[in-house]
Amino acid sequence: MNKESVQEGWKWLELKDKSGWELPDGPTMSLVFSLGHDPRIKVYDLGCGIGRHTVFFAEQGYQVFASDISEEAVQATKQWLGKAGLSAEVKQGRITSIDYPDNKFNLVISFNVIYHAFRSDIVKAISEVYRVLKPGGLFYGTLLTKDKDCHFTEKENEIIDEQTLIIQGGVEDGVPHFFSHMEDLLDFFADFHLEDLVYTEVYSTPYNLENLLSQKGWGHFRFLVKKPF
Ligand SMILES: C[S@@+](CC[C@H](N)C(=O)[O-])C[C@H]1O[C@@H](n2cnc3c(N)ncnc32)[C@H](O)[C@@H]1O
Repeated sequence: MNKESVQEGWKWLELKDKSGWELPDGPTMSLVFSLGHDPRIKVYDLGCGIGRHTVFFAEQGYQVFASDISEEAVQATKQWLGKAGLSAEVKQGRITSIDYPDNKFNLVISFNVIYHAFRSDIVKAISEVYRVLKPGGLFYGTLLTKDKDCHFTEKENEIIDEQTLIIQGGVEDGVPHFFSHMEDLLDFFADFHLEDLVYTEVYSTPYNLENLLSQKGWGHFRFLVKKPF
């Protein structure tokens, strides 16, 4: 295996209960207030999963484009759009090579996706997002933080380096995870204008007292950045 670059999709068919991935994320939905309602607006859902945000933005009347490395995810998103009577262009693709021309999108959203890569691939992915955004376009997404220890030390994961591991088993089998320091974050978005940055912690399930008191969880940065005019 090339340890310079591992990219691997989620095995969505192995996930029995997908309900946690069917409701759109609240702050993602609120981006509609920044975009306004104009059918010329183009939104790209990078790493769309089974399609909750693709469907949400299509419902708003925008022109929507989506991709995921996982064929299962692409098929699930197309099926959901079909059932809802909505349309969007959905393709299989990697975050590091976006199959669209420069300056196309008003918004790129990549929720819980771009950290599924080694550092150098995250840098490539962000430069691709920069390329395809219109000047003044927004990029909203999440990154995992290393500044809280999260699951990093769990034994069953393959540790690649101090900030990178590959999950072993389950829906994320073989999927890399990169944990960013604050310095990485500022470095990744050096070409953008940082509009908003929030730290949230997602506690481990089940939400029983033992898990909650141990405060075990995954720390995420939610970022909103703008490509300068
Ligand atoms: C946590 S899921 C999030 C899905 C969706 N963004 C959402 O919020 O529902 C991560 C998704 O990223 C995709 N993914 C992982 N690595 C990728 C890569 N290198 N290129 C494109 N998609 C990738 C996975 O297949 C999976 O569907």
